[in-house]
Amino acid sequence: MSVHALHYYVNIDPHGGVLINREVSRTEKETQLKRASHLPSIIVSEWTISDIELIAIGGFSPLTGFMKQSDYQSVINHMRLENGLIWSIPITLPVSFKEEPLFKIGQEIALKGTDDCIYGILKLEEKFLYDKKEEAQLVYGTTDAEHPGVKKLYEQGDVYFAGPITLLNRPNHGEFTAYYKDPVQTREMFTDLGWKTIVGFQTRNPVHRAHEYIQKIAMENIDGLLLNPLVGQTKSDDIPAHIRMKSYEVLLEQYYPKDRVRLVIYPAAMRYAGPREAILHALVRKNYGCTHFIVGRDHAGVGNYYGTYEAQELISIYEREIGITILKFEHSFYCKKCENMATAKTCPHSQEHHLHLSGTKVRELLKSGIKPPKEFSRPEVAEILIKGLRDKVNDDN
Ligand code: ADX
Repeated sequence: MSVHALHYYVNIDPHGGVLINREVSRTEKETQLKRASHLPSIIVSEWTISDIELIAIGGFSPLTGFMKQSDYQSVINHMRLENGLIWSIPITLPVSFKEEPLFKIGQEIALKGTDDCIYGILKLEEKFLYDKKEEAQLVYGTTDAEHPGVKKLYEQGDVYFAGPITLLNRPNHGEFTAYYKDPVQTREMFTDLGWKTIVGFQTRNPVHRAHEYIQKIAMENIDGLLLNPLVGQTKSDDIPAHIRMKSYEVLLEQYYPKDRVRLVIYPAAMRYAGPREAILHALVRKNYGCTHFIVGRDHAGVGNYYGTYEAQELISIYEREIGITILKFEHSFYCKKCENMATAKTCPHSQEHHLHLSGTKVRELLKSGIKPPKEFSRPEVAEILIKGLRDKVNDDN
């Protein structure tokens, strides 16, 4: 294993200066897999597998493994790694009380999925107890078990295992494989495209008109858009990634200039940590080579846990240190009087002229086979979502 190639193509340095590579080389892979099959193992969650992958491919640079207690404490309390670098969300490996005594410090552990595939090896350097309520409060801003990120935290093991990891098998991204690129590859791609400025867009939703509006404002001044939807674990009522991906394809095909956009998946789990997750999202997109990142209304939020602009406020404090330019957008909507997409900054009309639909309302409409107004969602997008959700109901039954 080594750090990635010496030049990083595009102009923006990875977080911490070096793009991490913790993946076993092709030549070593068979030997390492054989060796790993004789190691003691633990079964890890889909969420943890996505963390292993992101650490190994450099998406989470400068992390080289799961956080030790000193980094963990520093991150939850001060939003910095122990060495002072900005980092907003703990990246940790939870293990149950029952399993904890089976492993000794210094040991190597095979990290297996429920599919029995060995995804990686952890060199166990530390085990530590942590306070779930403290982590919930500091990271998510709430201890409410109804919050989807906090719920996961409460359900997971009570001990954290820490140490460097090695990736042996990348998860299979199935039908998304064509849209999979690691940070080395996105950086190469941007160089090949001749893009000097790249705006990253995070989403866990279909792209609606408000998203399209803010992306296109950014594209007026920036060389290219990286549409980078999160496709790892999300909460059960979010629209599944395989349905969303089809909607992105059709939207890009019909409404975006081909040479100005690239669709690449972001294989992470969604934490719903609002302001702190906005910072993580920005850091990761910097690692992928983006020079700009969009933070709009209630970024990575859920329910009413965060203020509309709380993510923008927090990220503004650290923007210079994070080192990627944050493009902040106000809540965008369609105004019937302007006959245009707008925000409070550009529209003089009162609320009654504005088209506002909550995420829940839109999902309800789509589930009942009703297209939301075209001013909210492109009809081609709505059609795909309706069909996808209908097929899902049939598959579930
Ligand atoms: S997120 O959880 O992935 O952030 P979402 O897919 O809703 O959720 O949002 C993607 C990005 O678009 C985020 O930066 C969010 O702040 C922004 N955004 C979503 N809806 C709007 C809107 N109506 N106006 C302005 N920004 C928005």
